[in-house]
Amino acid sequence: MDFRRQTNRRLHEEHMAVIDLLGRFQRALLAARDAPLAGGAAFQRLARELAHGLDFEVGAHFDFEEDELFPRLADAGEGDLVALLEEEHVVIRDVAATVRGLLARALAGSLDEAAWRALRTHGLELCERLTSHAEKEEGALLPALESLLDDDADREAFAAYAAA
Ligand SMILES: [Fe+2]
Ligand SMILES: [Fe+2]
Repeated sequence: MDFRRQTNRRLHEEHMAVIDLLGRFQRALLAARDAPLAGGAAFQRLARELAHGLDFEVGAHFDFEEDELFPRLADAGEGDLVALLEEEHVVIRDVAATVRGLLARALAGSLDEAAWRALRTHGLELCERLTSHAEKEEGALLPALESLLDDDADREAFAAYAAA
């Protein structure tokens, strides 16, 4: 879908980026089932990218949706959608915090066998939940915002995001 609103274009780009990142993480976790690769250079690079990506996604991106966009949608009668997305944010923030802590240990080279298994389990859960959440927002949130945001609201929201 092509978005007319710059706010939606930005969110769309960020959703595509996080879906791509999670897809690579998921493939790495699945490929490493019996042979932990946490110490390898490729996994370390991915872990670093993922740590930054997650900090941004469950930080600025989620905050912006919650502070600037969800209230507008709720006011426009989309309260059920907002409640669902907010609930998903809570669950995803929680699993992301767990994964983030394990990634920090992987990056510090202190991931033992049990922590590796935990990273694999929680990492796969995160991939599933956050990918599905971003896809849901692509399918429902952004189309709703396209009709909701007029030029001024779009400019205002985009400026608020840029300033955050
Ligand atoms: Fe979201
Ligand atoms: Fe989002």
